[in-house]
Amino acid sequence: MTETDYKLLDSQLRAMLADETDKLAATSNFVALLFTALDDVNWLGVYVLRGEELVLGPFQGRPACVRIPVGKGVCGVAASTRNTQRIANVHEFPGHIVCDADSRSELVVPLLAASGLLGVLDIDSPSLSRFSEGDQQGIEKLCASFCALLDNSDKRFI
Ligand code: SME
Repeated sequence: MTETDYKLLDSQLRAMLADETDKLAATSNFVALLFTALDDVNWLGVYVLRGEELVLGPFQGRPACVRIPVGKGVCGVAASTRNTQRIANVHEFPGHIVCDADSRSELVVPLLAASGLLGVLDIDSPSLSRFSEGDQQGIEKLCASFCALLDNSDKRFI
């Protein structure tokens, strides 16, 4: 598996979103940039916080569950705790929600903007223990850049 160059990805993200104010377009390209850059990933997308639920947003991969209650599944726990969930084996995570049966490991990063929690970025891999500590740090930085680059003047994310 090729090591991901997170510094390069961060500069590509900044260049891509520099002049874009439409959140839907920006989020769609954010997801596409990461999905094409990361090896061994079968699903990658954003769930958007709508009240007490996470609702499916832009993604790459198979069709997925549309609504996840905050606090449920890996995504819901990331949203309720505001902490990244790096899960080596999803079948050992109590309450894991199966969307793509191929998924074995998962990384979910909360998208925290100045205005609060926007949603989560969810990445699934068909390999066990796909995500290292370095991947977590790199992807957390990309999420922080993404949130800072979005225009947060509107209350609604997408
Ligand atoms: N596995 C996630 C659900 C979303 S899908 O993986 C796309 C979870 O447990 O929250």
